[in-house]
Amino acid sequence: MKKEIRHIHLKTLAVYFLILVCGIGLGATLIFCLYSIPLNSKPKQFFSLEVPSNNFIEQPRLYPINPEVTKKKESTTSHTNIVATNTSSKSVKEEPKVVSETPRPAASSAFLHSMTDEELFWRASMVPRIHKPPFKKIPKVAFMFLVRGRLPLSPLWERFFRGYKGFYSIYVHTQPYFIGEVAPEPMFQGRRIPSEVVTWGEISMVEAERRLLASALLDFSNERFVLLSEACIPLYNFSTIYAYLINSRKTFVECYDQEGPVGRGRYDHNMEPVVTLQQWRKGSQWFEVDRHLALEVICDKKYYPLFRDYCKPACYSDEHYIPTLLNIEYPLVNSDRTLTYVDWSRGGPHPYKFGKWEVTADLLKRMQNGTECMYNGEPTRVCFLFARKFIPSSLFRLLELAPEVMHF
Ligand SMILES: *[C@@H]1O[C@H](CO)[C@@H](O)[C@H](O)[C@H]1NC(C)=O
Ligand SMILES: *[C@@H]1O[C@H](CO)[C@@H](O)[C@H](O)[C@H]1NC(C)=O
Ligand SMILES: *[C@@H]1O[C@H](CO)[C@@H](O)[C@H](O)[C@H]1NC(C)=O
Repeated sequence: MKKEIRHIHLKTLAVYFLILVCGIGLGATLIFCLYSIPLNSKPKQFFSLEVPSNNFIEQPRLYPINPEVTKKKESTTSHTNIVATNTSSKSVKEEPKVVSETPRPAASSAFLHSMTDEELFWRASMVPRIHKPPFKKIPKVAFMFLVRGRLPLSPLWERFFRGYKGFYSIYVHTQPYFIGEVAPEPMFQGRRIPSEVVTWGEISMVEAERRLLASALLDFSNERFVLLSEACIPLYNFSTIYAYLINSRKTFVECYDQEGPVGRGRYDHNMEPVVTLQQWRKGSQWFEVDRHLALEVICDKKYYPLFRDYCKPACYSDEHYIPTLLNIEYPLVNSDRTLTYVDWSRGGPHPYKFGKWEVTADLLKRMQNGTECMYNGEPTRVCFLFARKFIPSSLFRLLELAPEVMHF
């Protein structure tokens, strides 16, 4: 009897044991299956340089932004490269489906990116340590428009840019409360950058300039950076201006030492010893810099705070900050002259404004035919590539004269 009972016990034990082993096996298989699915599809990328604004998407937005525009900007720029140059270039493969997918948004008040200044400057300060890009890079000229609102001469600029997609990029900084359309032409759509509240004049102009430079630096193909106003016009066609800028060994920031109240008189001794009176310089606000200087300007933590704190009312730091910075740190890379013609000959605190009746072929030719300037070590009469100030009424005369005088 006892033997039989023990035998039955052993049998049931064995059965239980088998069931236990099967259960564990089944459980383990299930757990493995469940875990392996999400593991494979988990996004690995946590840091991407390609679309700057995407990394900040979770943060509260300070500006209204259309994310489609941001993405479209990236893709159209690389796509336009292709259109203008070579369809077999490598960047096509990287972003094959562009442009036709998202219809162009109607409002040009949409912003190029959604970053705050802090995020923007940090991103723009990054420099690739491998200098040769893995794709064919066409150097671009960044045209940075610092405007109050509308760009009244945009039809002239449209004709100037037409046919040169991929060789330029446009950035527009307006006053923050401007809500209209900057310009109706396609190349200006979605090219506005966010502008935090600034009061025009004084240091805020420099803030706007630095913001424009930082935004333009995000595009690694931008090599030269031109600052323009709404009253500026080009004096030559695109190919002439492009070649002049891209091939120049020097940058074009006007820089001179002026005695009297509107020059040295604006200096504040609180800036000593970082900036001395002997180093203080003045120049036109409308500058042209290369990538290296643009980076130095946006990364500067030494001079900028001094100008912010001590170049106050009636100092106009936009006329002093970059000229003084270059004079101290990089005197040899700059030509010390401006590329933008302006007429101060009639006196007063503002330059002369050219209207409809003054715009003639003679006037434009006179602006093109400067006094002698140096360009890459050679004298040239092409001192100015741009001119100001032209009021909106001059537009039709300019459009009329452009083919004959400016060759576009
Ligand atoms: C495009 O570039 C490739 C090499 O990168 C070259 O073989 C081809 O001729 C170019 N095509 C045009 C239209 O320039
Ligand atoms: C651009 O202008 C220059 C003169 O400045 C002229 O020689 C050239 O042919 C023009 N180019 C085009 C594409 O019109
Ligand atoms: C430019 O101006 C100088 C005199 O200032 C004149 O001799 C020269 O012929 C002008 N050149 C052109 C192309 O108008």
